[in-house]
Amino acid sequence: MIISASTDYREAARRKLPAFLFHYIDGGAYAEHTLKRNVSDLSDIALRQRVLRDMSALDLTTRLFDETLSMPVVLAPVGLTGMYARRGEVQAARAAAKKGIPFTMSTVSVCPIEEVAPKIDRPMWFQLYVLKDRGFMKNALERAQAAGVKTLVFTVDMPTPGARYRDAHSGMSGPNAEIRRMVQAVLHPSWAYDVGLMGTPHDLGNISAYMGKPTGLADYIGWLANNFDQSISWKDLEWIRDFWKGPMIIKGILDPEDARDAVKFGADGIVVSNHGGRQLDGVLSSARALPAIADAVKGDLTILADSGIRTGLDVVRMIALGADSVLLGRAFIYALAAKGEAGVSNLLDLFEKEMRVAMVLTGAKTIADITPEMLVRA
Ligand code: FNR
Repeated sequence: MIISASTDYREAARRKLPAFLFHYIDGGAYAEHTLKRNVSDLSDIALRQRVLRDMSALDLTTRLFDETLSMPVVLAPVGLTGMYARRGEVQAARAAAKKGIPFTMSTVSVCPIEEVAPKIDRPMWFQLYVLKDRGFMKNALERAQAAGVKTLVFTVDMPTPGARYRDAHSGMSGPNAEIRRMVQAVLHPSWAYDVGLMGTPHDLGNISAYMGKPTGLADYIGWLANNFDQSISWKDLEWIRDFWKGPMIIKGILDPEDARDAVKFGADGIVVSNHGGRQLDGVLSSARALPAIADAVKGDLTILADSGIRTGLDVVRMIALGADSVLLGRAFIYALAAKGEAGVSNLLDLFEKEMRVAMVLTGAKTIADITPEMLVRA
């Protein structure tokens, strides 16, 4: 049964990738309850159908941080994107730029900032984790600035990694994980050729550039494991606020009080997110957390939201719940793994079509017309 483009691409990605990589993308924390609710809570939201309102002219464009977007969608930062398709960050960034929306580069990308930025004709966004190695953070910020990045996404919901049992089962983590990964890669020669794991340059661009040497997956996992910083507080972010001149977005907000603190701190935006259900299982889905956050801070800063968005209809639902724009994670990653840049371009076209249908049949001519009034109240 066809449910959505991202469902079909998920299946194609499952067939193409070695199991450990597919499950790394697809999985979440603990029993994956929050992961599932991200999707089911969104699809449970009913919209009011409106008819006979002359919907011949629709405008999906939106303004975010002095940028015009062709639609209110941004590609989320996803670590190791270059493992799912050859030079995957470049392919995804190109598809996003061609569609007129931003691509966000993860701290832990395979392609370095300097490789991706010149390949696209709009500034990409850059995501930074809070890490103990502040030298790395400063170096990454300087390089992002030099590459023309203006918008910084600061991810704060990973002071410690979530327990992802699927990764332990699949061989992505745990003892001898590296050996198991290599064996699986050999069993999937087409994939190994695609991402260049076997032989051709394979390193983690942003981290290798800082370390001054190629960094394989094992070095990276060791480095990252030692670098999570549980002591982090708002105070630690002040130097970044002072250092970074462009818009700064705090990603990983799920509570109205934290959203108010982000306003006090002077953030330009937040991402209402539970990291796609990959951190704390049992927290609210983004769809359920969003309305109270929007009540608390709407108008004080830009509200972005992610986690569980699989269709253009879901984009409309998230905006009706209070977001100004959304981020896509797995939806675009499945398409990238399945079909590279062409897959991501096709996925974004399908999202746009689904948004258009939803807007025509809910009577929203512009993104600003998508409001809580559109929701059927239980
Ligand atoms: C992520 N996410 C993430 N977030 C971040 O800030 N930095 C990162 O490096 C990563 N890495 C990452 C890897 C993978 C494989 C996934 C699936 C996700 C979280 C991501 O930005 C986003 O918040 C979620 O993916 C949104 O949920 P959906 O759309 O995947 O359900």
